[in-house]
Amino acid sequence: MPLPPLVRRWPRAARLALLPLLLTCCLSCTGGGSGGADPSVAGAPGAGDRLFPEAGNGGYDVTHYGLDLSYDPASGRLSGSTAVTATATQRLARFDLDLSGLTVASVAVGGRPATFSRAGDELTVRPARPLARGARFTATVAYAGVPATLTDPDGSKEGWLRTSDGAVALGEPVGAMAWFPCDNHPSDKAAFDLTVSVPNGLTAVSNGELAATTRAGGRSVFHWRTSRPMATYLATLAIGHFTVSRSATPGGLPLYTAVDPRSDDPETAAALRRIPEILDWESGLFGPYPFASSGAIVAHLPSGEGGYALETQNRPFFPGADGPPAAPLSTLVHEMSHQWVGDSVTPRSWQDIWLNEGFATYTEWLWAAHEGGDSLDTSAAAAFGDSAAWAFPPASPPTAADVFAPPVYRRGALVLYELRRTLGDSTFFRLLRAWPAEHRYGNASTADFTAFCHRFTGRDLTPLFRTWLYGTSKPAQL
Ligand code: TRP
Ligand code: ZN
Repeated sequence: MPLPPLVRRWPRAARLALLPLLLTCCLSCTGGGSGGADPSVAGAPGAGDRLFPEAGNGGYDVTHYGLDLSYDPASGRLSGSTAVTATATQRLARFDLDLSGLTVASVAVGGRPATFSRAGDELTVRPARPLARGARFTATVAYAGVPATLTDPDGSKEGWLRTSDGAVALGEPVGAMAWFPCDNHPSDKAAFDLTVSVPNGLTAVSNGELAATTRAGGRSVFHWRTSRPMATYLATLAIGHFTVSRSATPGGLPLYTAVDPRSDDPETAAALRRIPEILDWESGLFGPYPFASSGAIVAHLPSGEGGYALETQNRPFFPGADGPPAAPLSTLVHEMSHQWVGDSVTPRSWQDIWLNEGFATYTEWLWAAHEGGDSLDTSAAAAFGDSAAWAFPPASPPTAADVFAPPVYRRGALVLYELRRTLGDSTFFRLLRAWPAEHRYGNASTADFTAFCHRFTGRDLTPLFRTWLYGTSKPAQL
């Protein structure tokens, strides 16, 4: 390392005397002697999320995940590697990835073996040499095991859900770490390539577009590519016997829909046929569809598991079960709207989740009115009258168990209902289109939204937000 100019001008003896000092300093900085005890060169174990403090990590930004996996449905064993390509945002003697369960066989950084340790859901990696701030690097983790089903603070199941003939990966809010090591926070979005090998006869479906399918030695390999940035919670993988239909919308957008034949109920089939119409109608609300393909995944889950749909990027997921329809039309409309609000514009942190669910619920209300069902006023009145919707302000879910609670959905939608009443149809619907454009493929917080509304309308909306977004008490009337 070059000596600072001042030191270069010192007499040789003085320079030599300085050497041991410099050496000790360097050793402790690189973590070479102390295992990286200096916190200034350790990436933080969390991204700083108030509700999920351990989710995500500090010190780097992921640009690409390359998953190369193999799945054996009989044993439930997943094996392979994930290559995480990132840029260091600080000097890093060590950094964390999030990984829950599974056995790590090796980690390499830049092709050189790295040491690693595990504690809880943190996989700590120490590269052979510290990474400089700004350095681009690839950390490759080889691992195997039967991935875990995680239980969320609200009691719901996510992560890896086994089905009778395969499995489904669901990642909201933190389930991604059950099947690949990652920077598991919505603020760090990245492109994905997922290559997965399954026994012949089974199909593996994921986000993005199918780049290649190959067969060798009794196995089929599916390569799915997601070029647009994707949050880890939106990554999915569904393995099983699926009926695949490939088509395109009248506008030429490719559709890839995979349905487990056991969940192919008439209501779901009828809803899925309307995907082009739904996308077209939602493009009218939110602007151009943000991704290069669409479709859906309908799986068949053992009863009692994963009973919720999820807006997995490009291709929302629907839980088939024995009995109720897998993908009712209103749920399909809801998940498709998330492609704009949630998937393209992603919450900066989990407390901003109403930006997803409030918008998607409001979209459901608009759709119902559009279809000749409940009017918008009827939907809003029902939400207003729901005491559960008033448990807390949508902008600040108190705990991690509250991120999918009624205030986030119904009271979140009421924020938009009130905005429309205040702004009038013309400004409101222009704003609804401008918002996804403002943060396309990025992240946004509640503060970004309120600032945007003020800028866009030139009006002081502080009282509206104070009451409907942040207020702790229920207004006297709608
Ligand atoms: N984000 C999903 C949706 O509304 C819902 C969801 C994900 C959910 N995980 C959950 C709901 C857990 C309840 C519990 O489209
Ligand atoms: Zn939703």
